[in-house]
Amino acid sequence: MKDQESQVADIGSLIAAQKAGYALAQPFYLSDAIFAQDVDRVFYQEWQLAGHVSEIPDAGDYILFEMMRESVIVVRGDDGKVRALANVCRHRGSRVCIEPRGNTKRFTCPYHAWAFNLDGSLFNARMLGQDHDRSKLGLKSVAVEVFHGLIYVSLSDAPASFDHLRVDLDPVLAPFGLARTRIAHRESYPVQANWKLLVENYNECYHCTAAHPEFARSHATHMAAERVAPLNEQMLARSKAAGVPTDFVDCIGSLRPTGSPDYAYNRYSLFDGYFTGSEDGAPLAPLLGDITAYDSGASDVYVGILNPMLIYCDHALIYRFVPVDKDTSIQEIIWLVHEDAQEGRDYDLTRLKWLWDVTTIADKQIIEKNQAGVNSRFYEPGPFVEMEAYTQRFIAAYLATLTTN
Ligand code: FES
Ligand SMILES: [Fe+2]
Repeated sequence: MKDQESQVADIGSLIAAQKAGYALAQPFYLSDAIFAQDVDRVFYQEWQLAGHVSEIPDAGDYILFEMMRESVIVVRGDDGKVRALANVCRHRGSRVCIEPRGNTKRFTCPYHAWAFNLDGSLFNARMLGQDHDRSKLGLKSVAVEVFHGLIYVSLSDAPASFDHLRVDLDPVLAPFGLARTRIAHRESYPVQANWKLLVENYNECYHCTAAHPEFARSHATHMAAERVAPLNEQMLARSKAAGVPTDFVDCIGSLRPTGSPDYAYNRYSLFDGYFTGSEDGAPLAPLLGDITAYDSGASDVYVGILNPMLIYCDHALIYRFVPVDKDTSIQEIIWLVHEDAQEGRDYDLTRLKWLWDVTTIADKQIIEKNQAGVNSRFYEPGPFVEMEAYTQRFIAAYLATLTTN
């Protein structure tokens, strides 16, 4: 085996050598140089979920979005607007905001006490000479989009526009009323693997039959397309009656419109007897948004490549794939329920999180074994099957990101 770094002297050639329909070559997982590219071109460019508006309902409420070396303050201003500010003091660079969430009138740097207003502008800089233009010393703005209550940030200077995505996804997301949900639970699962193996695994259900008996007995996505189709047909009538959108926004084979984050929406049926993603099939929480009945379906939603979403009739989940370093990642899950739903009265948290907790713990194990094999001198990328179409789609989007940004 050649040294990983010598293999990536020319990342362009490595991308060109990548066989269509095959898993990625080893350096994409092991090389420090490629990981540095991943950070620059994926994690510093793509839109990433920072939180939900229900976390910062009032003026002065803030949360931190932290990813590798970066920290961003997401704050609601006195004018009600959500802003994102680089958490880097304009004096000598200290982190300004230390607590991961809270409420404040302004942000005061712990080092020399420069103070910044909620919109980032400089409020006070002790003893700073009058010859400095204070209007140029505010906290730097970070791109932020609020989309159906979900707050996305991009660390890019020129982030992809949400315009196409809004036009196509607005109608299919609106009935779920995600802006009128709140976070019932969030959990982080550390995984000893390169971030791409987490995303690849999430995007295919070829592994579900063997790895996820709990999921496979309720969700039909692990079966061949011809067996799933009749179930989905039956669901369509139920979805229509319940006000659940079924128009697919499916970009397989046609990646993001130029200058847009990648996005997709589709809905598929659960098996008979399952209203939602619960252990016994029974409902878990009050219906979301304007949904009037259970259609026994689940929606896969993508806003960018890093935060897939799964929406049932009575709750939704959002994934966050967060790199720690080349070989370590965090898979985080956020569970959303209707904003009026009260734990204990309207839902039981243990039941609500059961399916995706057991499933994600199993995923952690298979992903770590995947990484162990990929590390081997005997690793050679093998061919994908049809059921891995979304994983292939991710790989195509990822390679395009490395090439074009
Ligand atoms: S570094 Fe923030 S006040 Fe000095
Ligand atoms: Fe899985």
